[in-house]
Amino acid sequence: MTEPFATFLLFGATGDLAHRMIFPSLYNLLADGLLPDDFLVIASGRSDMSDEAFRKDIKESLPKFLPADGYDDAVADRLAAIICYQPVAADKAEQFAALADRLDGRLDRGVAVYLSTPPSLFAPTAQGLAQAGLITPNTRIAMEKPIGKDLASSKQVNDTIGALFAEDQIFRVDHYLGKETVQNLLALRFGNVMFEPLWNASAIDHVQITVGETVGLEGRVSYYDGVGALRDMVQNHVLQILSIIAMEPPARMDPTSVRDEKVKALRSLRPMTAEAVKTNSVRGQYTPGAVGGEIVTGYADELGKPSDTETFVALKAYIDNWRWQGVPFYLRTGKRMPARQSEILIQFKPVRHSIFGRDGKHSGGGSGLEPNTLIIRLQPEEYIRLLIMTKRPGLERQVHLEEVTLDVSLTAAFAGQRRRIAYERLLLDLLAGDQTLFVRRDEVEAQWTWIDSIIDGWKQAGMKIAPYASGNWGPSSAIALIERDGASWHD
Ligand code: BG6
Repeated sequence: MTEPFATFLLFGATGDLAHRMIFPSLYNLLADGLLPDDFLVIASGRSDMSDEAFRKDIKESLPKFLPADGYDDAVADRLAAIICYQPVAADKAEQFAALADRLDGRLDRGVAVYLSTPPSLFAPTAQGLAQAGLITPNTRIAMEKPIGKDLASSKQVNDTIGALFAEDQIFRVDHYLGKETVQNLLALRFGNVMFEPLWNASAIDHVQITVGETVGLEGRVSYYDGVGALRDMVQNHVLQILSIIAMEPPARMDPTSVRDEKVKALRSLRPMTAEAVKTNSVRGQYTPGAVGGEIVTGYADELGKPSDTETFVALKAYIDNWRWQGVPFYLRTGKRMPARQSEILIQFKPVRHSIFGRDGKHSGGGSGLEPNTLIIRLQPEEYIRLLIMTKRPGLERQVHLEEVTLDVSLTAAFAGQRRRIAYERLLLDLLAGDQTLFVRRDEVEAQWTWIDSIIDGWKQAGMKIAPYASGNWGPSSAIALIERDGASWHD
């Protein structure tokens, strides 16, 4: 691999994501000596501001978003010293020209452009860069989601950016891929001999993926309303997790091999129809309630008007390929859930033949035999739990089985290591040019194809929003969605 790029050009630098995630990540990378010696951050936003004013702003915000024991004023000063600020509005050619002056002499060492702006600014920003001569083979561009709001609009965005950059210069960010635990799914599946032989329809009954959040709208009215949980969370984060769980083993851990397998899994998602959405999907919206002992208002109250946007979605999905034939994937995500909890549950099938009896008919009282379950908790804690059967100690003639937990706490096993912000990994990979943890165009489009089928289904079926009181795991119909099949959500 070539030298990491030495210039980071951040659009949307005055925004929330930049303050909460990107600058704290740069701080950590700098503190750990992971940035090139001649690294420069050019921060850009629409506001007119001097270098000094912007540096002051970042220095004030860093301690808010870094843990107290992970903040050192001297490192913050070093970071501030390598940041400069250049006001750029997407429609002002003269400001792009001023940006080009700032970049004078640095293009050859590589420029990583990061668009942390509303998507409507992706195309004009890229065009502004092109007109100012700032796009060379040594320019990479990273884009935050959402890439479009459906397949057609995502193609438009991809076409516009694709006209200016080659695919290997485009880094589509899904910050879930930067999370240690999501990468760990690859290690778990392909670094251990015992899981892969069972990772298919012969041994697995169903899979659950839950991404629960306790937060509500958080003032993101202009973005969230009209978008909703399906587009905001399922289209990207949940489907990326699903693709890693469901994909075939890649031949190598490289961008092409991994993403080839992920896209195949995504393309195998069975499209939903108007008929299917009625039984296989639930749309919910939170109403007033209590989360973590705190009284909270409903979505419509936060918004100030009634809305048809879903803040919760539950789906029963199928992957139509050899490996997953007949295995339902139950997916759910929502805001104002009882807990911030993201996890994957793999429910194995019962043993083929029970020598202990399962239902009490042969064992006089039931043996307690249950199928195995694997739980992979992604956040807030990180653990892997395997529920296995053991004999309850005792002298009874009848063997009584009990479920015990093989518990691997990753948080405890790696207690000495600092937990990284997902963006640290992604920023390093962007500078190094490694696309493995970024989303390829065909993946985004396969994701939208499936999501569009659900949205069309909802429209045709006239699917209504089901209310749920904040602090619950969605409406009762979400429980029915899985219990109808004889399973239940793991809460
Ligand atoms: C973002 C969504 O992509 O992910 C937000 O737009 C959501 O609505 C967030 O809150 C969740 O990310 P995390 O890392 O807190 O699980």
